[in-house]
Amino acid sequence: MITTTSANPTADIDTFHGSSLELKNLTMAYGDIEVLRNVSLTVAPGTTTCIIGPSGSGKSTLLRGVNRLHEPKSGDVVLAGDSALKVNPDILRSRIGMVFQHFNLFPDHTALENVALALWSVKKMSKAEARERARRRLAEVGLAERADHRPRDLSGGQQQRVAIARALAMEPEVMLFDEATSALDPELVKGVLTLMASLAKRGMTMVVVTHEMGFARKVADQVVFMDEGEVVESGTPAEIFDNPRSERLQRFLSEVL
Ligand SMILES: Nc1ncnc2c1ncn2[C@@H]1O[C@H](COP(=O)(O)OP(=O)(O)OP(=O)(O)O)[C@@H](O)[C@H]1O
Ligand SMILES: [Mg+2]
Repeated sequence: MITTTSANPTADIDTFHGSSLELKNLTMAYGDIEVLRNVSLTVAPGTTTCIIGPSGSGKSTLLRGVNRLHEPKSGDVVLAGDSALKVNPDILRSRIGMVFQHFNLFPDHTALENVALALWSVKKMSKAEARERARRRLAEVGLAERADHRPRDLSGGQQQRVAIARALAMEPEVMLFDEATSALDPELVKGVLTLMASLAKRGMTMVVVTHEMGFARKVADQVVFMDEGEVVESGTPAEIFDNPRSERLQRFLSEVL
């Protein structure tokens, strides 16, 4: 749910009411190969969890399990107290927004249409209402002036902000980010990270897979280190970055920091 704080008409800033998310012994496989084993994780409402770990450790698979782009083999995903595995996947994906490394925008639609599309097709809003909400969301990510541009006429950073606006327009309870800035030119990364940090501050529940250790340190309430399909360590940014306990995390940090 998104509430508008009308007390301050100039700011026009929404606050979010993120839901809790819990993974219980989540195990995921591709065919016979288990790539996630017994992962348990609690994400409190309105908090940000950053997931770090080497390539192939299962970070993307975990996110794909949460919104069931790939069905878990066993275990449970609990959203706001109820099993997400019992929710219709389309409804689940409107409650859990996901932003990918490659923005996945529709190339033949304008920024505004990209944001509005699911509002009338999934949320069954009238076109006028959908466009109005899309405009608002685009303004919120700093793209009011670019509403009528197609993706190819936008920078990578702007395209990613359209993708974030599109996810936010569905009024999600949780937002998942999978390497949202890794395809961007270095000078465009900061704008997207700043936007993500502002969502976190405004109460969205976020699970962020990232290589941006500075972001994780600054924005995360909880950092989770994964390796070989398992959660090896989790804790506050200070615990993970300043006091890594396991040899695996120490080695990983020595390679990325
Ligand atoms: N569609 C798939 N079919 C089979 N195996 C897959 C599939 N997707 C991922 N895998 C395997 O599952 C394991 C976990 O992959 P995953 O993409 O979750 O890792 P990751 O931590 O996101 O890595 P990266 O940092 O490179 O994105 C890897 O061994 C990978 O090869
Ligand atoms: Mg990945």
